[in-house]
Amino acid sequence: MSSKKNILALRQKKAIVEKGGGDKAIEKQISMGKMPARVRILALLDEGSFHEYDLFVEHEEQNFGMASKELPGDGVITGTGTIGGAPVCIYAQDFTVMGGSLGLKHARKITKIMDHALKMKIPCIGINDSGGARIQEGIGALAGYGEIFYRNTMASGVIPQLSVILGPCAGGAVYSPALTDFVFVVENISKMFITGPNVIETVLGEKISQEDLGGARVHAEITGNAHFYALSEMECFEQIKILISLIPHNNEERPPAKAPKPPKFRKKIENIIPVDPKQPYDVRDVIFALTDDSKFLEVQELWAANIVIGFGRMNGETVGFVANQPMYLAGVLDCDASDKAARFIRFCDAFNIPIVTLEDMPGYLPGVDQEHAGVIRHGAKMLYAYSEATVPKMTVILRKAYGGGYIAMNSRHLGADFVYAWPSAEIAVMGPEGAANIIFRKEIMEAEDEHAMRQEKVKEYVEKFANPFVAASKGYIDAVIEPSETRELLLHSLSLSKNKDDFRPKKKHGIPPF
Ligand code: HXC
Repeated sequence: MSSKKNILALRQKKAIVEKGGGDKAIEKQISMGKMPARVRILALLDEGSFHEYDLFVEHEEQNFGMASKELPGDGVITGTGTIGGAPVCIYAQDFTVMGGSLGLKHARKITKIMDHALKMKIPCIGINDSGGARIQEGIGALAGYGEIFYRNTMASGVIPQLSVILGPCAGGAVYSPALTDFVFVVENISKMFITGPNVIETVLGEKISQEDLGGARVHAEITGNAHFYALSEMECFEQIKILISLIPHNNEERPPAKAPKPPKFRKKIENIIPVDPKQPYDVRDVIFALTDDSKFLEVQELWAANIVIGFGRMNGETVGFVANQPMYLAGVLDCDASDKAARFIRFCDAFNIPIVTLEDMPGYLPGVDQEHAGVIRHGAKMLYAYSEATVPKMTVILRKAYGGGYIAMNSRHLGADFVYAWPSAEIAVMGPEGAANIIFRKEIMEAEDEHAMRQEKVKEYVEKFANPFVAASKGYIDAVIEPSETRELLLHSLSLSKNKDDFRPKKKHGIPPF
């Protein structure tokens, strides 16, 4: 054959395989409100940047009538490309080919691209849309999953790993996303569960829809498995593009810097906290007043809303924010908030992202529910994550810093590099009411007017402790600052910490309270 004929033959062969499960299956996919796998990849990556691998890989299963079955690409598309110029490895399961089910060769295509990502030290993005382990392949499929989980673990903390759930992700398949850094879900499209509704009905006799069991909102609001929630696939891809622009390619690099911009938030930072210390406010306003262009990419926005986490830029450089949210449960720390913050802190630490902590919280949430849910173990994760982190760590105490919360929110004692407090800061073992009731119990009970005495003792306690000056006098905070000085001081602290080198004892690894 002449080379022209060869090229034409190649193009025809490619076109056939690129059709995946064929026109009918693609139509069905679209009728379900889902983009076909290849379209997804092209929509997410920079135009013309996709380079496909292993298009012609075929399955080798002989049992259950599989020998004669042709599965284009074995149900998964893999390759490389760029997002906003950043190189990435990517795979997308193709539901039009046998429900995107995972057989051994399908898995090996995925593990090959994961190995490539790890070797090239670039992020790996997996788009999941699959019926899970290919039932006809049995142990081969299970082996494939195991090999993926192993690589997820090896790559953890070395390259960013993103999982996009754009269809079913059932059975053990959910554990690959769970091992990755960020999980993206889309309303009405994403479904994640270990045991599907059919099995639940058979075993437990309970009827439940896929949506109620493990739909996008369930994972964005209740379980915390999802980090980003979108109303459409295109919105989800926009979220991925923003995230990729904010994080580094790997753990040896810093996130790419942008041109610095001043915040454009209108409200004056000194007017954000209400005069009445019991009034809530949205701590995200403080973040908007600090970040370049007032931009902030919030992570896990709908789950454990009592703590806010996410990325913004300061002077062009990516910073991770961890902030108590007084608007929700007064900003207390509980099991979920601790898990949420601890994992984020570890991500920032692994990927050289400085952490700014904004503190305003009355402590850990009291009560039987929390105690029995393991608030001791979960709360300890935050202590561990902050203490372990060696990236630059800055804290601004905005208002309440009570008890265990004072310590947990990146206090000096856990290794904070810079601790600032606003004049509105209240640093104490517990809230004034609780404290007065305990230490002045006798005086209050014996007083003629209990209420008046309690008020007097609360006032006494507030005057003594509900301010930043006792902590300042002991050197636990570096400076009491005016709110308007915050951004400038944080920028100064960030520039000072560029070459921070923190000593840690030699060990194989620590044993965090997982
Ligand atoms: C083989 C599968 C498959 C699978 C779907 N298909 N899942 N083939 N193995 N796991 C095939 C279907 O037979 C069908 O083929 C095509 O894909 C499309 O599937 P439909 O059922 O028509 O689609 P839909 O109605 O949208 O339902 C999607 C679904 C359902 C909810 C995902 O297919 C389903 O329940 N599948 C089984 C899910 C499951 O139990 N997986 C195993 C989990 S155990 P045709 O030829 O008709 O088009 C597991 C263990 C892993 O994953 C452990 C790792 C540690």
